[in-house]
Amino acid sequence: MDSELIKVSPDSSATPGQDRVAGAKPRRIGVLTAGGDAPGMNAAIRAVVRTAGAYGIEAIGIQRGFDGLIYGYLEPLPSRAVANIIQRGGTILETSRSQEFMSPAGRARAAANARHRGVEAFVVIGGDGTLAGAVAFAEESKLSVMFIPASIDNDVPGSDYSIGFDTAVNTGLEAIDRIRDTAFAGERLFFIEVMGRDSGFIAVAVALGGGAEAVIVPEIKCDLDELCSRIKESQLRGKRSSLIVVSEGPRTGGAIAIAESVKSRVGMPARVVVLGHIQRGGAPTSRDRIAASRLGTAAVRAIVDGREPSVVGEDRGAVAYVPLSKALERRPALDPSLIELVSLLSV
Ligand code: F6P
Repeated sequence: MDSELIKVSPDSSATPGQDRVAGAKPRRIGVLTAGGDAPGMNAAIRAVVRTAGAYGIEAIGIQRGFDGLIYGYLEPLPSRAVANIIQRGGTILETSRSQEFMSPAGRARAAANARHRGVEAFVVIGGDGTLAGAVAFAEESKLSVMFIPASIDNDVPGSDYSIGFDTAVNTGLEAIDRIRDTAFAGERLFFIEVMGRDSGFIAVAVALGGGAEAVIVPEIKCDLDELCSRIKESQLRGKRSSLIVVSEGPRTGGAIAIAESVKSRVGMPARVVVLGHIQRGGAPTSRDRIAASRLGTAAVRAIVDGREPSVVGEDRGAVAYVPLSKALERRPALDPSLIELVSLLSV
């Protein structure tokens, strides 16, 4: 690993891709993963490296997210380096939530390292926090930056879909199916906590697909009195077990606290299962491998075509490009009708 650090001040006079001769393809493209890892990141890295190779461009892997760019952890990624990774969860490049990259000085160091190593364009793979960093980096450095949305939370602005969501939901469903067996056998109420501190996409999908009684998400305040009444009504109708899916985090209060407050009021034995980081690992589903492969290739093509820095994501199933300057305004919104559907179908 190269840990060389060079000091420069940010150059704000340049335009995107200025280091390249106008119309020329870049000599090197850097690829990195940052923030929370998501299944399918490796498939995206593979697609970036292989597509770059097809254009005769050298791919450079940056280890540990933006920290790796600041500290110079850059290594060439030849085609063979990404063999046998399409099916692996996590990220071979590793990841970080870089504090230093949050400051203009940190980003200037990163840009200086990139230029020093001849990296003229970037594919950044990550979630919403990483996107905010990428927007600032592209703006200040004037380097060409394409962003691929990857987050199990499915809440990355500028795209309908984020790589990793489908895998996380299927992992949650596998768990809920197992919990259902024992909940029915023991006539119990189960509270299942899923990931998604700030967004309820995983919770809603797991609740709907798993046939839960109710779902509690950060976006909508939960009325516990109403929830208790519904559970009691279900009991009167002969229902002997129920599953409630809860998004983690302070905005819902979490499954443990909710279970504590509900169980005595409904007079039913209750148990809590916190799925946690189990949902972040594991082999990506076909949905995630295919999305990652398409978006990885599209991101490299976007650089070669000289597109402005963009989120390379999906719009109703098709590959779509949203300029980074506009992406943060386009935050995906949870569909409340799906929450109603969970209740309607659980009677
Ligand atoms: O990447 C998104 C996410 O998995 C959220 O669902 C979760 O709230 C958060 O990251 C957990 O972060 P960490 O792994 O840093 O605890």
